Amino acid sequence: MKKILVMASGNGSNFEAIVEYFKNKDVEIELLCNIEGANVINRAKRLNIKYYRVGFCDTYEFLKEKKYDLYVLAGYMRILPHNILTLGRFVNIHPSLLPQFKGIDAIKRAYLSNAKETGVTVHYVDDEVDSGEIIASERCKIEPDMTLKDLEEKIHSIEHKLYPRVIEEIL
Ligand code: GAR
Repeated sequence: MKKILVMASGNGSNFEAIVEYFKNKDVEIELLCNIEGANVINRAKRLNIKYYRVGFCDTYEFLKEKKYDLYVLAGYMRILPHNILTLGRFVNIHPSLLPQFKGIDAIKRAYLSNAKETGVTVHYVDDEVDSGEIIASERCKIEPDMTLKDLEEKIHSIEHKLYPRVIEEIL
């Protein structure tokens, strides 16, 4: 039995996709959320997943007492310091073809840039933002008639399929 910790700060759609994917598999999932009242906590309650609400400053103290096979960042909107990264393997998903459009609002910035394509990248986490060895990526065409909302929906649906499969492969 493998055990993973999903770390998230916001909506939690990737968290939910991961939980659904591993529902009948030998993988235990827990959630760590750093934001009070984040929607991802409602999802954890509904899906019956054990969750911890831990402020960013207390995260190292909290994690060093625990052991997970993999730490999965899914919209965790803080940069992890080096001491946390020494605790195990951390992966992240980012809604662009890295190294393009690092940081926040990556989908919107790609859309406004008039690029013809963008995508999704899964990568190991290192000391910098949206950096680290790339594990997998998937391209997404930006069609001329697409609205920003269309593009966001397409990117998220790619994320929800790609991330669980990559996590399973790493495990
Ligand atoms: C996802 O699109 C993820 O790629 C992005 O945050 C969103 C979280 O959505 N992460 C980053 O931008 C990391 N720099 P979710 O809460 O619905 O899973």
